[in-house]
Amino acid sequence: MGAIKFLVVGVLVAGVAFKVAEKMLVIPPIPAIDPNPWWGPGQPQPEDTTIKPFKIKIPENDVEDLKTRLGLPLRLTPPLIGANFTYGMSQNTLEQIVTYWKTKYNWTEREKKLNQYPHFKTRIEGLDIHFLRASAKVTEKKGTKVVPLLLIHGWPGSFVEFYSILPLLTKPQDGSDVVFEVICPSIPGYGFSQSSAKQGLGLMETSQIFLKLMKRLGYDKFYLQGGDWGAIISNFMATMYPDNILGVHLNMVAVNTPGPNIKLILGAVLPAGIVVAEKDQDKLYPLGDKFSMIARETGYLHLQATKPDTVGAALNQSPVGLASYILEKFSTWTHQNNPHLPDGGLLQKDFPIPLDELLDNICVYWFTGSITSSMRYYAENFGRMSATFLMDRIPCEVPAGIAVFPQELLNQPKNFIAHKFHDIVTYTDQPAGGHFAAMERPQLLAADIHKFVSAVEKRR
Ligand SMILES: *[C@@H]1O[C@H](CO)[C@@H](O)[C@H](O)[C@H]1NC(C)=O
Ligand SMILES: *[C@@H]1O[C@H](CO)[C@@H](O)[C@H](O)[C@H]1NC(C)=O
Repeated sequence: MGAIKFLVVGVLVAGVAFKVAEKMLVIPPIPAIDPNPWWGPGQPQPEDTTIKPFKIKIPENDVEDLKTRLGLPLRLTPPLIGANFTYGMSQNTLEQIVTYWKTKYNWTEREKKLNQYPHFKTRIEGLDIHFLRASAKVTEKKGTKVVPLLLIHGWPGSFVEFYSILPLLTKPQDGSDVVFEVICPSIPGYGFSQSSAKQGLGLMETSQIFLKLMKRLGYDKFYLQGGDWGAIISNFMATMYPDNILGVHLNMVAVNTPGPNIKLILGAVLPAGIVVAEKDQDKLYPLGDKFSMIARETGYLHLQATKPDTVGAALNQSPVGLASYILEKFSTWTHQNNPHLPDGGLLQKDFPIPLDELLDNICVYWFTGSITSSMRYYAENFGRMSATFLMDRIPCEVPAGIAVFPQELLNQPKNFIAHKFHDIVTYTDQPAGGHFAAMERPQLLAADIHKFVSAVEKRR
């Protein structure tokens, strides 16, 4: 009698386990979204599809207003003795940066620099979408092919991230068969792209908008590149529109599905080389250190995914507060040891991003008043975490190139990423660099993009 009971329970448990596993492993369909939503305020109107040239020209009043605010007496709290950046942005460093911003940083000159590429706006689904275009420098070099590339920024970045890498993409490089015609859009609600008036504009909706943008520009097939949100949007676009995407190059990717997660656990208990190669151990282990690092560094994410408008009010009111919030990310995400330096690394001679460029990016957030709408993107996407998780479970057959920068917060070995990307053409461990690869290591990132696209083009 006892044995039969045991058997029945065993069969039931096995049955349930199988059902659960089946549910996890079945490839879900791509969720359907409204093909023609209206994100703008008011009633839908006939789409105006013209592409309008746009010049960055911040009104004098706004520039004066920033000057006035930066001139107010600072109300900063001195850091704890010896804490450096481990409690967040050190107010001593912030003070030095604000002084530079007030006295040395020259917006007139920076604006001119930002306008060195032609910018445009076009209305898609009720929103004015901003983009810049960096044209391929047509060359005599025989056999060099011009290919279109959509290059997508993240948070707390903007199109400003790409000014150092653009010349390396648009001009022929040694050992490369391609040059790029680059389109850098601003995500809706970021910088000069209008923000949605309605809830629900997340990754899938952005992917649809960017596909419409490229088609409007005459590109039915193109390459994708991105880090941060740019990487996740690229991941979504390659999965949703495989017929339009020639290849997808990512400098941040973590596949969150049962396969890689089981490998992560197995790799922690099995000797190196069985599930996780010796060279990849640092990317994942020690697991405890990685988990506590992620908990420590993602408070912003929880906040932005839940109540973005609350903190947004403070950040949009004070340029000093905005700089504090954004620069802390540039400190930690470029090098994980930076919080242990008194200036968070930001003022060191060898900090990979010039202060002027850091301030250009902050000015784009400030002058467009877009910090709140940029943070809402987390609420739209993490509120619907299931869509993000689900997209990871849909395999992508589009050729993929992965550039792994050692200071990135989260890196996975190739055999983890392969659960999602079935055709990894290049996977390159880079010698240096972190989250803002295009700004920090433009040479390395550009070389990797050229290598990947040249390899894909050879197969076509
Ligand atoms: C900023 O640069 C512009 C253009 O080069 C120049 O005319 C202006 O005097 C500069 N402003 C300051 C405060 O240095
Ligand atoms: C802060 O920086 C000082 C000077 O570089 C260093 O000696 C100290 O260990 C650092 N403290 C922390 C908590 O990182």
